[in-house]
Amino acid sequence: MERKASIMAMEVAIMAVVVLGLVRASAGAVYKVGDASGWTIVGNVNYSTWASTKSFHLGDVIHFEYNKMFHNVMEVSKNDFKACAATSPIATYTTGNDSIVIKRGGHHFFICGVPGHCSIGQKVDIRVPKRTSSAAPSIAPAASAPSTSAAAGAGTGVASNPAPSPHGNSAAKAASSMGYGLAISMLAFAATSLSVL
Ligand SMILES: *[C@@H]1O[C@H](CO)[C@@H](O)[C@H](O)[C@H]1NC(C)=O
Ligand SMILES: *[C@@H]1O[C@H](CO)[C@@H](O)[C@H](O)[C@H]1NC(C)=O
Repeated sequence: MERKASIMAMEVAIMAVVVLGLVRASAGAVYKVGDASGWTIVGNVNYSTWASTKSFHLGDVIHFEYNKMFHNVMEVSKNDFKACAATSPIATYTTGNDSIVIKRGGHHFFICGVPGHCSIGQKVDIRVPKRTSSAAPSIAPAASAPSTSAAAGAGTGVASNPAPSPHGNSAAKAASSMGYGLAISMLAFAATSLSVL
């Protein structure tokens, strides 16, 4: 009886680690702005074309690499982006190697604040779909069964497999946020089981 419980606790713990691993793997891609060209005015990089080939999500990292003697990065309002106005930035980055984590949905407008650079194209609009923390509810109607069975599974220690579905990003994100909750429940369950022994 005790032995059975400890094996079960171990299985649950292992499962939790696997689930956390999946969640971690799917959290936050890193995008280097301009790819190999980086953040520059050399070579007429079209940053709107660059951005249009990506699909950004909350938690992603936008990485700007540039020579800090010649450039910087300013996050600005939409109007300042359009006008290339660098006088009232929301945030300014100057290390030449700046990693910016996307923490909210919507547009994130970046320009180089060095005079003249934005107007010749050193500007990028990173658009991030609003969502993620509330991803599960929006997905729930299509997949109501998994969320209830997952919750039940966590309670009884009979884990259903929450592996992300291959059907697109939103489903994967939903699955991973569900997996995260499940993993936490499972960790809690494992901890309780272990302390009982
Ligand atoms: C970048 O490319 C888009 C088409 O993908 C074009 O509409 C836009 O004018 C270009 N921007 C610059 C600065 O050349
Ligand atoms: C930029 O910073 C990252 C760590 O955030 C580091 O791994 C990388 O080597 C740096 N690149 C340059 C060119 O300094």
